[in-house]
Amino acid sequence: MNAPVQSLRGLDLKSEIDRLRKERNAVILAHYYQTPDIQDIADFVGDSLDLSAKAAATDADVIAFCGVRFMAEVAKILSPQKTVILPDMAAGCSLEDSCPPEQFAQFRAAHPDHIALTYINCSAAVKAHSDIIVTSSSAEKILAQLPMDQKIIFAPDKNLGAWFNRKTGRDMLLWPGACIVHEAFSETELLKLKQRYPGAPVAAHPECPAFILDHADEVGSTRAILDFALRSPAQTIIVATEPHIIHQMEKAAPHKTFIGAPGADGNCNCNMCPYMAMNTMEKLYVALRDMEPQIELDEATRLAAKKPLDRMLEMAGRTVGQGDVGRPAG
Ligand code: 13P
Ligand code: SF4
Repeated sequence: MNAPVQSLRGLDLKSEIDRLRKERNAVILAHYYQTPDIQDIADFVGDSLDLSAKAAATDADVIAFCGVRFMAEVAKILSPQKTVILPDMAAGCSLEDSCPPEQFAQFRAAHPDHIALTYINCSAAVKAHSDIIVTSSSAEKILAQLPMDQKIIFAPDKNLGAWFNRKTGRDMLLWPGACIVHEAFSETELLKLKQRYPGAPVAAHPECPAFILDHADEVGSTRAILDFALRSPAQTIIVATEPHIIHQMEKAAPHKTFIGAPGADGNCNCNMCPYMAMNTMEKLYVALRDMEPQIELDEATRLAAKKPLDRMLEMAGRTVGQGDVGRPAG
């Protein structure tokens, strides 16, 4: 059992985490949706594809995964010999919840002529029922390698699937899941914001519904949104994804203004991911100190889930064993 967080008052968490990271030979991986303090202490900050490739390639003994549970599971699937810890095991994902493995298996069985292309935001059990895993940054490259007449089930994000149907001219069969964070953006509020900042481009994540993507100048993964925000000549950029990514933008381009797209009441916090927010510096410290909670997977599920993940890394050109990949933290 982890010690209660209150007993940590007075500790210098940054230096304690640093000390434990060295003692344990641990690497700290963080997603862009983590709070700034966690992003700043991580060895590596990235999108889902970068983090998967990094987890597969690191030579650390321990991976402290600051993201949500399915991401830490991917690290364990790809690096079973390593200890993978997640600061809070309750850090789930609404997309994962929207796709129960038994129902997904039944859906697949009802469409035997389709292959299953599955977004990485799902459980290991759903991955085990899939043919190829994709992330928002790898899906297009992977789809380009599949024949146009190949019948495909795309799960669990209907918005992401619809976006790639639109982009590639395919007619993938979509599982009706969605991300609560990206569904919370309001078109009316976004239009008001565009009026207030004329000429400010909008960068949006493809987990957003079409009524938001229709107003976007750039649609892409968190990494693609970050790259766009930095290379755009615009001084003000509207960001339609989880707003903690703005931390990296402000660090890299302090002279620019980045504005998070609003939810329905214009300034609610409904577009902050409640699952990502479960990880804190205190919980990261305790996880490194006690080496728990640890990700554990039964070997049959792990091996079955590894196959479609390996296919993704191969087809995306990110083979296991590759050296340093993605964007270093700092
Ligand atoms: P990417 O970082 O791959 O764009 O994924 C976004 C997301 O919602 C992660 O949960
Ligand atoms: Fe899941 Fe959405 Fe949170 Fe990403 S932002 S972890 S898709 S709930």
